[in-house]
Amino acid sequence: MSDQTAEPLVKVDGLHTYYGKSHILHGVSLTVGHGEVVGLLGRNGVGKSTTLKTIIGLVDAAQGSILFEGRSIAKMPPHKLAQIGIGYVPEDRRIFRLLTVMENLRTGLDRTGVTEARKKELLDKAFSYFPRLAERRNQAGGTLSGGEQQMLAIARAMMLEPKIILLDEPTEGLMPRMVSQIRNIVDVLHKEGVAILLVEQNVPLTLEASQRIYVMEKGEVRHHCAASEISVDHPVIKQYLGV
Ligand SMILES: Nc1ncnc2c1ncn2[C@@H]1O[C@H](COP(=O)(O)OP(=O)(O)OP(=O)(O)O)[C@@H](O)[C@H]1O
Ligand SMILES: [Mg+2]
Repeated sequence: MSDQTAEPLVKVDGLHTYYGKSHILHGVSLTVGHGEVVGLLGRNGVGKSTTLKTIIGLVDAAQGSILFEGRSIAKMPPHKLAQIGIGYVPEDRRIFRLLTVMENLRTGLDRTGVTEARKKELLDKAFSYFPRLAERRNQAGGTLSGGEQQMLAIARAMMLEPKIILLDEPTEGLMPRMVSQIRNIVDVLHKEGVAILLVEQNVPLTLEASQRIYVMEKGEVRHHCAASEISVDHPVIKQYLGV
């Protein structure tokens, strides 16, 4: 009998990904445990977003396996991935600009098997985590600030009650006050038992928010360790992330 508790939530092994003839990922392997926050760090262009896109199936893996709760999810359509508990918040956030905040959130609730009472609970929870969104519930998504749009994208992913959220550079380009709000929401999700694969370039934030980190360079994982084992001035961080 397999030990369910030892099985990671996500297990990626030996991923190779190409864009046309460009070989981008060169055998990326990583795991995310149930409820674990895992940071994926690396400079611009090393393949962080491509790793997330390959996991979510936006880009085909030429080689390698992607397991979720021990089952292969390669070739699963996006709506199916959402159904089994995988949320994704891309770098460009992709909220619906013409829909209101409320309507954006409702798109995540538009699925079978969710009672009206449960929908209300989920909306109330999102608005309690993001009072800014509550204030702006009738405002069009496109009129929100960058930070508010990021909150909306995360809140919408939460409507799907995911087991994991793949979060791509949530703090990029945000003002410090917004950065700390996004940081708080990572903690809240963690407390709720949601796992997060957090792609970031903000090293201090990632080391604080994550239990483990992976550091990528040129399409490969060069280092992985417990976040507590490493600090911003560690040679590994200097080598792969320093300017
Ligand atoms: N659609 C695409 N077609 C061709 N090449 C691409 C495409 N998307 C990304 N690339 C290339 O693949 C490499 C990895 O890109 P990726 O977006 O995964 O990097 P990243 O680590 O997320 O970087 P950033 O920190 O800038 O977001 C880069 O060299 C990039 O130019
Ligand atoms: Mg990226």
